[in-house]
Amino acid sequence: MSTAIYPGSFDPITLGHLNIIERAAKIFDELVVTVMFNAAKKTPMFTLEEKLEMVKKSVAGFENVRVESSDGLLAEYAKQFPGAVIIKGLRAASDFEYEFIMDQVNKNMNPELETMFLTADHEYTFLSSSIVRELASYGAELKGYVPDVIIEDIRAKIAEGGK
Ligand code: COA
Repeated sequence: MSTAIYPGSFDPITLGHLNIIERAAKIFDELVVTVMFNAAKKTPMFTLEEKLEMVKKSVAGFENVRVESSDGLLAEYAKQFPGAVIIKGLRAASDFEYEFIMDQVNKNMNPELETMFLTADHEYTFLSSSIVRELASYGAELKGYVPDVIIEDIRAKIAEGGK
């Protein structure tokens, strides 16, 4: 059985992420979407539990997708899925430079670990979680940026003072 892991900080999950999930789920028998920490992002808007809940709601329609979380290193986490590959989305050449380095770092710790890249569909190349957070903070329309099922969760977070 082929397994892929799609890791990210998902703060929050966007339609760009969902596009990658949908496409990867067609290629692999099983896709594990893993909510992780990016040490460079010190102040996430959502808690781990909130992010996990939003990702779960967003992928509820996919039979071969499950959602997990980990606060460890990706290279170590992946060892529990022998033969699994990492999926990363590439939106632009600038993403590649960072992801190339991450792949090397991960391989140093786990030489078996392969990363495969899916290029973002053109309508999502501009999208990021931080764009969504900024739009949300101004009360802007979020439809078309994030899955419909999480729009209220983002609004509620803003209403309680989340930034
Ligand atoms: N569509 C829309 N947006 C996309 C996208 C797509 N297809 N692909 C990526 N993005 C966005 C993300 O939302 C994110 O936006 P943000 O910066 O505004 O939050 C941005 O592009 C960067 O994405 P990515 O490079 O995947 O970073 P990430 O923070 O989502 O995930 C981890 C990075 C969590 C996978 C990585 O930090 C990690 O592996 N952490 C575990 C610890 C570890 O092993 N570290 C590495 C070794 S030092």
